[in-house]
Amino acid sequence: MKVLHAAAELFPHVKVGGLADVMGALPLALRKEGIDVRLLLPAYPALLKVAKVFSVEENFPDLMGSGQARLLLAEVPGSVTVYLLDAPGFFSREGGPYDDHGDTHRRFSALSWATAQFALRGGSEGIKYDIVHVHDWQTALTPVFIKCAWEGHRPKTVLTIHNLAYQGIYSKHILDEIWLPKESFHLQGAEYFDQINFLKGGLAYADAITTVSPTYAKEIQEPEGGYTLDGMMRYRSNDLKGIINGIDELVWNPTKDKHLRTVFSKKDIKKAKAYNKKVFQNEVGLAESPNSPLFGVVSRLNDIKGMDLLIANIDHIVSNGAQLVVLGKGDYNLESAFHTATLRYPGSVANYIGYDEGIAHRVMAASDVLLVPSRSEPCGLTQLYAMRYGALPLARKTGGLADTIVDITEESLKDGTATGFLFVEPDSWHLGEAITRALTLYKNEQKTWHSIQVRAMGQDFSWAKSAQQYVSLYKNLVK
Ligand code: ADP
Ligand code: GLC
Repeated sequence: MKVLHAAAELFPHVKVGGLADVMGALPLALRKEGIDVRLLLPAYPALLKVAKVFSVEENFPDLMGSGQARLLLAEVPGSVTVYLLDAPGFFSREGGPYDDHGDTHRRFSALSWATAQFALRGGSEGIKYDIVHVHDWQTALTPVFIKCAWEGHRPKTVLTIHNLAYQGIYSKHILDEIWLPKESFHLQGAEYFDQINFLKGGLAYADAITTVSPTYAKEIQEPEGGYTLDGMMRYRSNDLKGIINGIDELVWNPTKDKHLRTVFSKKDIKKAKAYNKKVFQNEVGLAESPNSPLFGVVSRLNDIKGMDLLIANIDHIVSNGAQLVVLGKGDYNLESAFHTATLRYPGSVANYIGYDEGIAHRVMAASDVLLVPSRSEPCGLTQLYAMRYGALPLARKTGGLADTIVDITEESLKDGTATGFLFVEPDSWHLGEAITRALTLYKNEQKTWHSIQVRAMGQDFSWAKSAQQYVSLYKNLVK
């Protein structure tokens, strides 16, 4: 079976969040299941730098006002075969992939349109794809272009929602600029309150829709979790499935991690984590204090991630003799609040405002608890990495966090399933209560703590299981 994936990020070359991690790992996991997978991405400078280009598969003389564009067949280290949309007018820019230069709508409609054209024609090899699988709003118009095409081989389409909060909404006056087929601009299509909504177009036209956890698949069908598209999600509920993400074992493996001073497994967790903690405390300017529980954060900093709830709990954490380290970037007010906390509590609170892959790994290895107080979390990957590195996750019970963490209760301790701390109400008081539970357990029951760490490290979050679910979805579609 031939499957073409299209997306706007790829680990480690172009990464904003978890989408990059998924695009780095899922295609490889599908290939292990016997699928012929290829991946289409914008030819960002970071990708062209590492790519070995073989041929030009398509020429697009003037792609949505970007000038000459081409689709290149290439090899990128560590990935499946890739196609790069080389449209220098759109993608040859410094900065983040979503920085707005006033043409974001054209850039990503062009990505979707080129994906569709390539799938319909099959490039120089005339490949007939069975499935085109696209991710998030940046590629969501692909199913629209495919379904509305007059001719060509029409593969089945799958759209995965990694985060329903981001939809790509623009004024309807750009309709012609993005080459959107007029017949798709209606209430059951890409039209949205007299504007255009990229994601909604994809949701209307894709043959199947997935999202990245079963709980999130339910939440987005309700008004509270639906980001105004809950009606659409209910309308498509028979074609909607939640499939949880996995861990890229090549990147997140404490027994082989090059970012750590000392690698470790379940067997030497106590000694090795203590050592990693000590080295890390020195690295980030925390007091070297083996018995202070260390709370870590690796996150984009915004209110959806619940970072405001955490700021309200910094005094609580420090006054109980614990430490906090925050690695992240995002909203200015949150960045500066964390910065202020480091000045107020030197040695107890540290932060690194920015993006750093190595520090992210060391936070996981050094921390006793990883905080993920998200108001909404489609899947979440950091809690999985934390468990694998023996840091117990403390998270809000939502989306993929609810599906991957078993709250520590009397019952779950008895039946041997507990892996972390969950709280339900998204407010700072309930986060504080969960932090107190963690502090108490850490202080009074080291043996229990250790046994939960061992269990968390042994959880199976491999991609294989999820890849198999995608394969059976593909098979059902082409049946
Ligand atoms: P989201 O995609 O919503 O940001 P995920 O938990 O799915 O959330 O994925 C976040 C990914 O980005 C993880 O791989 C995490 O380690 C990484 N990450 C987030 N912030 C940073 C940062 N400041 N530095 C390094 N890695 C980060
Ligand atoms: C999104 C979500 C996150 C998910 C990631 C990968 O960025 O916010 O929860 O883990 O996509 O699917």
